[in-house]
Order: sequence, then structure tokens, then C-alpha cells
Amino acid sequence: MKTPSIVNITLPIIYLIMSLFCSLSFAQTVNRTTMLSNSCAACHGTDGKSADSIPSIAGKSVNYFIETMHAFRNGSRPSTVMIRHAIGYSDDDIKRLADYFSKQ
Ligand code: HEC
Repeated sequence: MKTPSIVNITLPIIYLIMSLFCSLSFAQTVNRTTMLSNSCAACHGTDGKSADSIPSIAGKSVNYFIETMHAFRNGSRPSTVMIRHAIGYSDDDIKRLADYFSKQ
């Protein structure tokens, strides 16, 4: 059997170390809340500050935000599009979003 050369061993190790560093820095810059809130920006504006007829969601109280998202989700507040978004988010996601947008 041929013994593996030093290159055959070193390259995968270098690759592993590099990919570890890349994924660490990615995790720091794009956290879960940022990813979730980005999907709202298309309609509600950057950081929830809307420039047109869609309501702004920046600076709403955490309680109002959570109650509203739950009401969209269970259908008790009628909506055109928000029910479709609200059903995709867990209670924990909604709390994160409420926290994030209340500080914008
Ligand atoms: C496709 C456009 C669209 C996207 C994307 C969207 N929204 Fe909405 N949002 C609306 C519209 C339109 C309304 C007004 C209610 C309705 O008709 O659905 C609304 C209303 C709301 C309200 C109530 C505001 C108030 O003043 O009572 C909240 C809170 C809200 N959205 C949160 C979110 C969050 C959080 C996200 C991202 C997870 C999001 N929206 C993504 C269109 C959108």
C-alpha cells in the first residue's frame, strides 16, 4: 500500500481550518434576527421604516408587535398578506422580531 504524501494530508486539514474560520465570521455578521427581519424590509422598508402606504413597523412596542403578529397568525386580525407571513414564524421568532423592530 502507498503511504499518503504530506500534501494529501495537509491540504484537507488546511481546507477544514479555513472553512471553520469562514463559517465563524459568517455567523457573527448574519445572525438569525437579521435574517428574519430582512424578509420584512421588502414591504415595510429598511429597518421597518416604510416610505409608502404599508405601515411602518419600527418603534412599535414589543407587546403590540407580538399581539399583532399572533392576531395575524390566528386570523383574528384580518389581513391581506400578513397572515401568510405570520404563520411562518414561531413564538420565539416573533419575540426576536418584536425586540429588534422596537429598537429601530
Ligand atoms: C408582501 C409585503 C409584506 C411583507 C413581506 C411583510 N409585511 Fe407586514 N404588513 C404588510 C401589509 C400590507 C400590512 C397591513 C395589514 C395587511 O393587509 O396584511 C402589514 C402589517 C404589519 C404589521 C401591523 C402594523 C400595525 O401598525 O399594526 C406588523 C406588525 C407587520 N406587518 C410585521 C411584519 C413582519 C415582522 C414582517 C417580516 C417577518 C412583515 N410584516 C413582512 C405587508 C407585508
